[in-house]
Amino acid sequence: MSASTRPTSATQGPTRNVRIKLRTENVSMIFQREGKALPVLEDIDLEVGDGEFVCLLGPSGCGKSTLLSAMAGFLTPTGGKIRIDGEIVRGPDPRRIFVFQERGVFPWLTVEGNIGFGLSKLSRSERAKRVSYYLQMVGLEGFEKSYPHELSGGMKQRVEVARALAVNPDVMFLDEPFGALDSITRLIMRGELLRIWQAERKTILFVTHDIDEAVQLADRVVVMSARPGRIQQIVPIDISHPRDISSPRYLELRDGILGQIGLAHRL
Ligand SMILES: Nc1ncnc2c1ncn2[C@@H]1O[C@H](COP(=O)(O)OP(=O)(O)O)[C@@H](O)[C@H]1O
Ligand SMILES: [Mg+2]
Repeated sequence: MSASTRPTSATQGPTRNVRIKLRTENVSMIFQREGKALPVLEDIDLEVGDGEFVCLLGPSGCGKSTLLSAMAGFLTPTGGKIRIDGEIVRGPDPRRIFVFQERGVFPWLTVEGNIGFGLSKLSRSERAKRVSYYLQMVGLEGFEKSYPHELSGGMKQRVEVARALAVNPDVMFLDEPFGALDSITRLIMRGELLRIWQAERKTILFVTHDIDEAVQLADRVVVMSARPGRIQQIVPIDISHPRDISSPRYLELRDGILGQIGLAHRL
């Protein structure tokens, strides 16, 4: 086992004994704003296992999107390094996919056009096969020819997830992907994403400011402090899926995180 495949500590590394897929080494980010240095991320050390589902949780403005963008190669950290499969991330890579909250699907393409968007290198029949497979996986059969304006918010988000999965990424970065949905649709989409993750075992980095979302989804929750964002605590969620959100262990973990961010017994 090489150094890059071994977790360095029990708290930073994945709970299961798997290969390290992504690692941040002492990552920091300082933005320049109006001539002043704005430190946004400090000393971020994190290891994410292959196939692991990690949630980054923290208050608005703490640097979650900045960290995710840096991991995906859209931003270069001002300090430290980010590695995927042991190699330093130097820019975006088609093997990795980023799902935004607001970006949305392409309104001028049908559902199947959207899902097949990243597949131009495949033959027509291969592309059709892939599109139909993921269309089914996210439960959109029958809507192949529909345009986004004919779909509900939840259905559009399914199209996004299907489009992301169709390119067969090895890492998925999701930045508050369900933030704009109503609470019932959000619950359904969490279940869908978990089902897909269990079937495909992609490595997932999922940003949220919703504690319940994090505890329902993640193998580990990375709790970040307010700006400049640091890792305050990493909480392994040792409950198997499907999770009973009224179980004592669930409530204990959730309350522990609330306590960590100073909100216990205040709600
Ligand atoms: N490109 C940028 N230039 C200057 N400041 C930025 C830039 N991107 C983000 N910021 C600032 O960095 C902080 C963290 O932003 P962000 O990562 O979006 O937080 P979060 O996703 O946790 O809400 C915010 O104060 C934001 O205004
Ligand atoms: Mg954000």
